[in-house]
Amino acid sequence: MTTLAILTAAGSGSRLGRDLPKALVELGGLPLLLHAARRLAASGVVDALVVTSPPGLVDVVRGLVAADPHVEVPVRVVEGGATRQASVAIGLGLASPADDVVLVHDAARPLVPVTLVRRVVDAVRAGHGAVVPGLAVTDTVKQVEPGPGPELVVGTPERSVLRAVQTPQGFDRTLLERAHTTGAARAVAEHLAATDDAGLVEALGEPVHVVRGDEAAFKITTERDLRLAELVLQDQA
Ligand code: C5P
Repeated sequence: MTTLAILTAAGSGSRLGRDLPKALVELGGLPLLLHAARRLAASGVVDALVVTSPPGLVDVVRGLVAADPHVEVPVRVVEGGATRQASVAIGLGLASPADDVVLVHDAARPLVPVTLVRRVVDAVRAGHGAVVPGLAVTDTVKQVEPGPGPELVVGTPERSVLRAVQTPQGFDRTLLERAHTTGAARAVAEHLAATDDAGLVEALGEPVHVVRGDEAAFKITTERDLRLAELVLQDQA
């Protein structure tokens, strides 16, 4: 039985304000997607990778991965879809019946520690069908009625029960396939699509469990995040 990791890298990353897709932006001289691919491979618990590429860049991404001797598992590259959910569904289509566990990881989280990858896979293999890494929330979170002006607060969830979730998220393959099949209609547009795969499992009414996340697995969205990642990378060296 094997674990397949889907590495989502098809986004444009427009908030980073670069000309190229976020997954190809360099951190310490290496594209974000290669950092993530290396770490998934180095975890020792991932048997193969599927990378979802930005539109028109399949050959570029394939070339990058093929030229990297540190990605020591078989890698297939497919063009992603219009939303993250659609990209994951395309990647999942390449899973084989032998892949009993599927991880989904964002290239936008390049510095994911191998220990976190192992923790997620271990929890799935221990019998939890859907596992997400999560961190306690330090800010108080307000629920609002979204709007252009000052927004009306409609609630303050109890902070101690909130978790900010990360990737990789890990799943029993058949459960993730059922979740994507059932939620497929949402994948067509950003405002409908699930922002994480666990959300699709929750929509089925199936349990999702949280394991301890890791601050190093933070997501790169802005230029400031990228600068922070440079510092974290230096610290890890
Ligand atoms: O845009 P955001 O950072 O939330 O995207 C999360 C991850 O999903 C990124 O790694 C991005 O490349 C990926 N993605 C994708 N296909 C899309 C949109 C985003 O694979 N259509």
